[in-house]
Amino acid sequence: MNLTTPETLSAETVFHYRSRGFVHVPRVLSGEEVKELLAEARTQLGQEEKISWDQEDGNVMDWVPRPDQKSETLRRLALHPRITGIAERLADRKLRMFKSEIILKRTSGAAGTPLHYDEPVFPWSGGAPVTLTAWVALVDVPVERGCMSFVPGSHLSHDGTLFTEADGNPYVPRPELTWQPRVTVPLRAGDCTFHHARTVHMAGTNASGEERISVATVYMDADSVYQPSALSYGNNVEGMEPGERFADDRFPVVGLDQ
Ligand code: SIN
Ligand code: NI
Repeated sequence: MNLTTPETLSAETVFHYRSRGFVHVPRVLSGEEVKELLAEARTQLGQEEKISWDQEDGNVMDWVPRPDQKSETLRRLALHPRITGIAERLADRKLRMFKSEIILKRTSGAAGTPLHYDEPVFPWSGGAPVTLTAWVALVDVPVERGCMSFVPGSHLSHDGTLFTEADGNPYVPRPELTWQPRVTVPLRAGDCTFHHARTVHMAGTNASGEERISVATVYMDADSVYQPSALSYGNNVEGMEPGERFADDRFPVVGLDQ
């Protein structure tokens, strides 16, 4: 079966991404690539220090931060020309890789990923508002394994009006958001979703009996400027000063003709 490449990505898919704020791109990685990446992801999940996101109703997910700095295989994924080339076509902008994460949704005691959008936790300003995440499935992720759902068009209401704050939680959905339709996107291993940092999204619980393993990589406008905020503490960068450009090789420029 043919892989999807930046060259074969249809104009319709690009339009879909721009109007809805997310898109499912099937077959971005070959079976061989998935096999190698899954083995490496499992190794890192077993050996590296993980961060756990726990809520009252269970563990949302565990993740290994910056796996791209821990192995050559996962660095290749974060900079993969097929993925970054597609990201660049969707964003229509020169992009820089900010970070990748190996994400595990456990088989038991798991909670769903609550409704949120990503932008407030990213420490930058400047550049164009094109930040997006490539979420690569390394195992099949049917609805029962906790695939993601997206609120189409929500990236166009970016001024925070879709959420309100309560008890320090900035992601309490307003009633109008609660009742907006969501699109649920099951993925086969090797498929990818791309979502805009302002797109509201969530994921279900993992009730499948098998771990959900994926890698999410965030790309931003190459001209973004470091600007930490009250909500970005988990993503702040050691050694960077506010107002500085992201220029070092922790955050390489990616895409078709760097
Ligand atoms: C998830 O993996 O369940 C959510 C990922 C995200 O919020 O981008
Ligand atoms: Ni998110």
